[in-house]
Amino acid sequence: MEVLGIDIGGSGVKAAIVDTNNGRFLSEKIRFQTPESGSPKKIFSGIESHFIEKLNWNGIVGCGFPGVIIKNKVHSAANISKKWVGVNIKKFFLQKFNLKCKAINDADAAGIAEINLNNEIPKKGTIMVITIGTGLGTSIFVNGKLVPNIEFGHLKMYGDCAEKYASNLARKKLNLTWKEWTARFSEYIAYIELLISPDVIILGGGISKYFDQYKSDLISNCEIIQAKNRNNAGIIGAAFSAS
Ligand code: BGC
Repeated sequence: MEVLGIDIGGSGVKAAIVDTNNGRFLSEKIRFQTPESGSPKKIFSGIESHFIEKLNWNGIVGCGFPGVIIKNKVHSAANISKKWVGVNIKKFFLQKFNLKCKAINDADAAGIAEINLNNEIPKKGTIMVITIGTGLGTSIFVNGKLVPNIEFGHLKMYGDCAEKYASNLARKKLNLTWKEWTARFSEYIAYIELLISPDVIILGGGISKYFDQYKSDLISNCEIIQAKNRNNAGIIGAAFSAS
């Protein structure tokens, strides 16, 4: 099946047509920068001109969003306009574009792609996916089953959200070296391990392609691996969830 996978993020909105049999892209990957306001109006208008019109799309859409999503409706928006809260993404796609859509949390989407496409991930146990980008997205799979909307990027560290301390945005804003950022991220992992003792942690998001820069300095009790689909996992998993 062919599905348009969309990944709405705090810094970019990305999409591609995905073959849901194998996760392969059937179109180029298209990206536009998240408009400064990040408002639903601006982002939907970007989705229309950059993705739907450009790809001449009239099929099913799967959409990942950086916040809690329950039954296609946005319940939180930390790194994007608060105007999203209350928006039913599925309804919007139907009313504005006459397209069928399923919306899920972006980290849940990334996790779905990894769990389905990486045969080396154990089928049993607790698997955690952390997407490291503008925020810290987290998803948890227990014996292969997703526990949706886990928001461990908002655990408190040093009086603020963990994602303010250890995201890729924090690394860039504070001009941290890889060693400095890795030390912070290892503290975050220690916190996660204290809470849920995962068997494997998969690192995705924008920073995953630099895995070689920091993997040897990561301190953890469990196995840490790089997301097989790197930063495309969100697009692929969104498409999978809608198929
Ligand atoms: C949001 C999460 C999201 C993560 C990554 C966090 O700020 O609360 O829902 O998965 O950012 O985008």
